[in-house]
Amino acid sequence: MSNMPELNFEGHNTLYATHGLHAYAAKCPPQLVRYGLKYYSKRSDTILDPMVGSGTTLVEAKLLSRNGIGFDIDPIAKLIAEVKCTAIPDNKIEKTFNILITRVAADIAEAQNEQGLLNLRERIKIPEFYNRDYWFSEEVVISLAILSFHIGKTKMARDLRNFFLVAFTSLILAKTSVANARDIVHSRHHFLKHEKIPDVLVKFTARVKTMRKQMSDFSKRCNRKGDVVSEVKLGDARSLPQNDESIDLVFTSPPYVTALDYTRSHFLAVPWLEQELGISMDNYRRRANIYVGTERQPSLKREDSNFDISSIFTLSKVLPILKEISDTQAKLTERYFVDMYRVVSEINRVLKRRKHAIIVVCPSHIRKVEVPTHKILIEIGNSIGLSSKKCYTRTIDAGRRILPFAKESFGNRMSTEYVLVFQKN
Ligand SMILES: C[S@@+](CC[C@H](N)C(=O)[O-])C[C@H]1O[C@@H](n2cnc3c(N)ncnc32)[C@H](O)[C@@H]1O
Repeated sequence: MSNMPELNFEGHNTLYATHGLHAYAAKCPPQLVRYGLKYYSKRSDTILDPMVGSGTTLVEAKLLSRNGIGFDIDPIAKLIAEVKCTAIPDNKIEKTFNILITRVAADIAEAQNEQGLLNLRERIKIPEFYNRDYWFSEEVVISLAILSFHIGKTKMARDLRNFFLVAFTSLILAKTSVANARDIVHSRHHFLKHEKIPDVLVKFTARVKTMRKQMSDFSKRCNRKGDVVSEVKLGDARSLPQNDESIDLVFTSPPYVTALDYTRSHFLAVPWLEQELGISMDNYRRRANIYVGTERQPSLKREDSNFDISSIFTLSKVLPILKEISDTQAKLTERYFVDMYRVVSEINRVLKRRKHAIIVVCPSHIRKVEVPTHKILIEIGNSIGLSSKKCYTRTIDAGRRILPFAKESFGNRMSTEYVLVFQKN
């Protein structure tokens, strides 16, 4: 294993260009992606991230003049990733924002009196969902409903609408949310009632102002580079709608084993955007068990894969130890590696011959049993024709990266991350 101190990026700015546009759990540091892209691909190559999350890989691909393709199973991830890698001229944002904010402000003012609110309720649907009034105060509910209504109805281009939708979700899915919650980006957030009711209009205006600066920085950096394409699609990394041998480099950081429920992290933003996301809140939550790394009883059956656990030495040693402690945890861990076997097989299929795949992973500790995810993935890769070339270690800057666990309860055990470099045979 190699130690590469320059991959630690301690104290580096991770929020340049559009990287800081939206919080996201277990986001990859852009410098790490940049390293991978610079060393293992060249200009105009096509880079794939099959679990793209908030789109760090695609932003870096664009900044380095590579074409980018990203898939994610989560519609909120898709939305964020798409906005982060689509440059929009600031004058276009400003013009539409002025129209939008005037309409929103007028309706919020109207909602201040009883008759006005009644009139408004006839025009604007206020979403109903379980525990709505627990998570949001009444004023916030009304303001969010007005804001999402106008983002959806005001005439504008798709890239602009997505930009404002991301500004909207970032009011809710944030460290300081307009919802009565803290740590919302983690999947185990807690109730926290605001002492002073948040002013949605003020917060939205401030968010858009910050996002415009970030977008301008991104646009400037893009303008200096050649013309490349970025695409983000909803899709499942276990069966990618992507041609064989069409990709020059894969860069991805998959979810951890049973550590993070992305649908639980995101669910408070979904009911306001059901139409735009094309999914109802209930269906969104119901799909939690199809995500890789889910802690819910997974929907797919063990038999749908030809993965032979006994051929993966490290996994075949770890599972019986886990099983003695918890049958459920052993099953979920096994399921995770069955899923990752399919993901790695798909990566192998779509990669061109002799090209590389970089997979960033963390070992997990499940009921105090260490699950060396990196070793298991190396063995899986080697078994299907992806030769392990390098395994770098790096230290996670736990203070900056939003991780799916409480730092105190894990101590330093999860602060080492592995950067696995494979090459297709
Ligand atoms: C650790 S995050 C990726 C973070 C990303 N590198 C970034 O910097 O934002 C893992 C992602 O995998 C996605 N995911 C889980 N199961 C998936 C599947 N079957 N297919 C595609 N994406 C999946 C999750 O929705 C999540 O966005």
